[in-house]
Amino acid sequence: MTTAITKVVFPVAGLGTRFLPVTKAIPKEMLPIADQPLIQYAVQEAQQAGIEEFIFVTNPTNRVLLQAHFSTNAQLEATLAERGKLAELKIVKETTLAPEQVKFCYQDRPLGLGHAVWCAREYLEGGPFAVILPDDLIMAKPGCLKQMVDLHAKLGGNIVAVENVARELTSRYGILDVSSDDGSIVSAKGLVEKPKPEEAPSTLSIIGRYILDHQVFQHLDKKMTGSGGEIQLTDAISATIGQVPFHGLRFEGTRFDCGSMFGFVEANVAFGLKSSQHESKLRTYLKNHL
Ligand code: G1P
Repeated sequence: MTTAITKVVFPVAGLGTRFLPVTKAIPKEMLPIADQPLIQYAVQEAQQAGIEEFIFVTNPTNRVLLQAHFSTNAQLEATLAERGKLAELKIVKETTLAPEQVKFCYQDRPLGLGHAVWCAREYLEGGPFAVILPDDLIMAKPGCLKQMVDLHAKLGGNIVAVENVARELTSRYGILDVSSDDGSIVSAKGLVEKPKPEEAPSTLSIIGRYILDHQVFQHLDKKMTGSGGEIQLTDAISATIGQVPFHGLRFEGTRFDCGSMFGFVEANVAFGLKSSQHESKLRTYLKNHL
């Protein structure tokens, strides 16, 4: 029996340097894709996977926006009710998370993804947990994290979502040193963070979804720096291989890298085309435009 995954960490204190100037004042996780901010897609994916506690690793400024989005806005709800805007009221109410489900912690310096997860340790109480990087938006049914939770129920241990990337892009990702691969589930003998294309052990890369065993903290506690002088989550997972089962899951779905302008535009088109209200207009617009 494996332990159920009930907690998710959202490391959202990043600087968004690949998408300036938009991210100068707007945190990446608040960028809208169609009619929702990225962070709301991430929360919904987590809810669909059975997550009950949402831990945001952020900073005091961005916390205000996250809180505003996920808590009750009594004035807005009253106004919508008064005006009979019931569909809008339903949409607004659906964004609310119960205050006891939400935790905030701060990462005051950009010391890396491993450090961001380490900052959430006080809320993770020894059990396994999930991590979602909201700028990796995944369109999938069931959601990517649900696919991983189902696999975790069978195999336990550390699980990461993976997909193949072009070899020239390996230096942007955590890359698996594959030991076996059945086309869906992959085992690895090691992981390398952001290797140069000529040094990458494969092109199978980690996408921003993780289920992690508490053992990763044994490595993260040492605050060892890796690629880019940062404390890397990839290195912590790699250090547990041999002690904790490790698997990569080639998830079913499409991933959009919304931390860059191209992925952001792509995602807006893809999610726009999913909207029953706008699909046909958008399709016509795109056809005419092209
Ligand atoms: C992070 C991880 C990397 C992973 C990537 C997925 O990198 O460190 O291993 O492949 O997310 O998006 P970042 O994008 O924060 O540089």
